[in-house]
Amino acid sequence: RIDEQTIRALPKAEVHVHLEGTFSLIDLLTLAKENGVALPGPAATLFDISTHTDFETPEVTTGGGTGTGSAGLSGFLRFLDWQCGLVRTPEQAARVAYAFAARQSASGVRYSDVIVNPTHWNAWRGRDLALMDALSAGFDEAEQDGLCRVGIAYSLLRGQTAADAEDAVARLADASLRRVVALSVDGDEKTTGRTGEKFQNAFAIAASAGLHRTVHAGESSGPEGVWDAIDLLQAERIDHGVRAIEDDALIARLIADGVSLGVCPRSNITLGIYDGWASHPLPRLLAAGVRVTLNTDDPAPMGTSLEADWAVAADQFGFSHDDMVGFARRSLEASFADDDLKRDLL
Ligand code: ADE
Ligand code: ZN
Repeated sequence: RIDEQTIRALPKAEVHVHLEGTFSLIDLLTLAKENGVALPGPAATLFDISTHTDFETPEVTTGGGTGTGSAGLSGFLRFLDWQCGLVRTPEQAARVAYAFAARQSASGVRYSDVIVNPTHWNAWRGRDLALMDALSAGFDEAEQDGLCRVGIAYSLLRGQTAADAEDAVARLADASLRRVVALSVDGDEKTTGRTGEKFQNAFAIAASAGLHRTVHAGESSGPEGVWDAIDLLQAERIDHGVRAIEDDALIARLIADGVSLGVCPRSNITLGIYDGWASHPLPRLLAAGVRVTLNTDDPAPMGTSLEADWAVAADQFGFSHDDMVGFARRSLEASFADDDLKRDLL
């Protein structure tokens, strides 16, 4: 059995984690108190709050892993809206950013790409770049204190219009913010259908501005979402991508183009995308030769940590110590850290 201490000691990156999914219970209680907001239910654990019926997450509240997935994810996204709505000042934003870097450091993460979707942060509507600045201040302070280095993947929401997305990315490209390294898109594809064409121009603007591209697909969508991400959005990485396993030609394409998948098995099981570890395709993707990394997605509300998820994956899938070293190395290679930092860390 590979223990969590051994995993923490491996120098690694995390490339698929949402800042919105990393607020600890104490972060949340403090924010709620500062804003005079009541919690929507028992505060025994963050999982209790995130699965409270106010957010309508029937699949998750009935134990997770047995649902159909779509209601689990969309209810979960509503929880993120509520939670991020509690971050209202630049100081509060910097604090959650700093806490994220500290949390990553505690897991032995030396560099992390972090997805930030400004549409969850209601108090910053129309001020998305100010939010990026406030978060960057927290990441800067963390770096000065020797904590995990962080690059931001600015995320569009699946349901945004093409015009809103293009406007956001044009402003982002213009501002050329040092910490923003990539454009992302997340949200629930079950509620929107295919969105590759809609975001094609936005991603083209990002690519011209030198931003990396990472796209949620093959989670709430099937293989077609992954095809669109590669063919239409110039994705270098896919977030999740697990349902690519259903399409042999797509697997061949991912390998040929060196596109890596930021896989999050615990998240998939919690949100009901797969019934359990036994049916999860991670070992099959790895055996097929796809570049897969192992990530948490939203560790805090899912009650987990990177080392816990790596340990349970090793246990459930029978991974060896060498396999875990491979995951650590691939995570750094797949990251959007700049070349100098990558060279230092690898
Ligand atoms: N935002 C946060 N977690 C997500 C997930 N698992 N899928 C899509 N969007 C998300
Ligand atoms: Zn995600």
